[in-house]
Amino acid sequence: MSDAGLYSCGWRGGGQQGWINYTLTVEQRHPAPTLPQALHADSKVIDFEGEGGEGAQEGRPPEFTKSLSPLMIKPAGNVAELKCQARGPNITTTWYKDGARPERQLGDVKMKGPTLKMENLVPMDSGNYTCVVSNQWGAINHTYALEVIEHIPSRPIFTKHLENITATQGETVYFEVDIWTENTLAPYIVWKKDLPITWSDTNAMKIEIDSMTLNAAIAGQEGGNITSTEDPQVLVLHNVTERDAGWYTCIAANSLGTSSSTAYLSVTDAEPILADAESHVILVLGIVLLSVMIIAGILASFVWRKWKKEKRRAIELERAKEAITQHWIKKVIVERQNSDASQEPLLVPTIKIEHCQSHSRLGSEITSLSEYELPLDADWELPRSRLVIGESLGEGAFGKVMRAEVQGMLRPDVTTTVAVKMLKDGHTDAELMDLVSEMEMMKMIGTHINIINLLGCCTQDGPLYVIVEYAALGNLRDYLRNNRPSSGYERAIGQEPDAVTHKDLVSFAYQVARGMDYLASKKCIHRDLAARNVLVSEDRIMKIADFGLARDIHSQDYYRKTSEGRLPVKWMAPEALFHRVYTSQSDVWAFGILLWEIMTMGGTPYPTVPSVERLFQLLREGHRMEKPSNCSLEIYMMMRECWRYQPTQRPTFKELVEDLDRILTLSSTVEYLDLSIPHLDTPPSSCDSSLTSDALTPR
Ligand code: ADE
Repeated sequence: MSDAGLYSCGWRGGGQQGWINYTLTVEQRHPAPTLPQALHADSKVIDFEGEGGEGAQEGRPPEFTKSLSPLMIKPAGNVAELKCQARGPNITTTWYKDGARPERQLGDVKMKGPTLKMENLVPMDSGNYTCVVSNQWGAINHTYALEVIEHIPSRPIFTKHLENITATQGETVYFEVDIWTENTLAPYIVWKKDLPITWSDTNAMKIEIDSMTLNAAIAGQEGGNITSTEDPQVLVLHNVTERDAGWYTCIAANSLGTSSSTAYLSVTDAEPILADAESHVILVLGIVLLSVMIIAGILASFVWRKWKKEKRRAIELERAKEAITQHWIKKVIVERQNSDASQEPLLVPTIKIEHCQSHSRLGSEITSLSEYELPLDADWELPRSRLVIGESLGEGAFGKVMRAEVQGMLRPDVTTTVAVKMLKDGHTDAELMDLVSEMEMMKMIGTHINIINLLGCCTQDGPLYVIVEYAALGNLRDYLRNNRPSSGYERAIGQEPDAVTHKDLVSFAYQVARGMDYLASKKCIHRDLAARNVLVSEDRIMKIADFGLARDIHSQDYYRKTSEGRLPVKWMAPEALFHRVYTSQSDVWAFGILLWEIMTMGGTPYPTVPSVERLFQLLREGHRMEKPSNCSLEIYMMMRECWRYQPTQRPTFKELVEDLDRILTLSSTVEYLDLSIPHLDTPPSSCDSSLTSDALTPR
């Protein structure tokens, strides 16, 4: 501590002399020392005694192992490693920057042992860094003047070198470089053509460049075709010729040295241009040719297709002409099949269609000809001229029934209303064959008062018309429903219901049974007997319709519903339903259902049976519909007889006719139906409580 005090250094030189004063302050080791002001100027060895001064004799102060440089210049971004390597016992090193604890705004200062390390240097890190190496016997220090500079001054650096150029004669060529130098060292830039080969970046440093000489050289050699632009880093060569081809060098120099960049300019003459243009022309020609070929191809295919179409049309026309002159037609052939075995059902006639030429009508009015030729049956044929078609009476999928008036059909000079069955436009051959078959069946079956009788037909020179009896009161189901004593339906004023007695109902049943007995006698199985297929003529004559229909029992749809939403399967006998066995006895089962329809004035059988499957189940289990109210027990017993499971146990139509005849004879003619209680489709009460609403009773 006694070393503290003012020290002075005297100097003399250059005819002058003076003193530099130093104040030495010695402090206790703890707390950590801040750099004494006195250490600012130079490295000093400061010896002091530690606390108590004991051991001063045996120990020694630290000493630097090598001489340390005072200046350190580092480029920004680099790492500075300042080292104060010293020897001595128990030494510690403390660092100061400009007399204070070293701190940085960006990054940190790593101090480890004798080393101070800073990464990513920035100019703000510049300053005086002092290390104080001390132990209890003394301290030494060293100051580094660290200068962090943005860029290191250097000779010019090409950041973009020259690139070889191939130009065509007459073009303007631009050689461009990018040169970087320290701001303070702006370069001289000169351009040189065909410098000796020794010019390269590697030896550029060795050559002393006199930029003035270079400029003169380039100007002298190249004459006027080298223009310096505003930007000396760009060389512009206007209207180049072959003579301009060669090596071009850009030389950049500053006080620290010279750099250069060289590239070659090739100047091609007009020939390659021509070749280029030629290839261009060839390419364009190729494209044009290809386009023409494609268009020609499309046109050709279009013309070819049109020609083919024309040819086809010509052939068709030829055929059509041929057809007109030779008259190609579809000839309908009817083959009646005679069945000798009395038990066999009536065989449906075979209807065939043959495509053939007909010369028979050549010369007649071709336009009126039908595409079909039907066999002429003089017994039944009626001139179309006598027929005046009226309103539609109903239509199905392929056929329709029209009301018509015929002059002198039944009696001369009397107009008879008839129903005409015909096909709809666009019908198929099969549909025509079905209608022909139905007509033929009607011819075969013959006439009976309780069937819809065939009256005649129009088969020639136009569409097929099958003329049948007209039933003015429509179908039995609707007739019954519309004439319920108190149906609840709103009726038109003046349209009073027909008074229907029980005897009338029995009479309806009797008539149907007679018609069916007749059909059965003709071995005709109806297969769809129901009130909807019984028509009622003006004088309440029951007439069974659609008995001659060709029915394909094998492709029957059990889920098919009628236009009123009824399931025809509800009229089917179990053997027909389960085994497709149709006989007159299965027609008897259907007659039983029809009897039930009559007695319920057009009720819907099994109204609460929701599905076909449930119907199957009920029939198998032996359930039957119960007696409708207002139905005599006698008639109900007849129904039940008709619904016997075994077809043979059912009555025949002949027996039914007899029974109904008997019942009819005994019936009172004044016994009106009392249906004043709103009529229910489902008569109440059943032995089977679960089936009450089904109106079924166990068999
Ligand atoms: N609907 C279908 N056929 C009929 C006919 N023959 N008479 C009245 N209406 C009909």
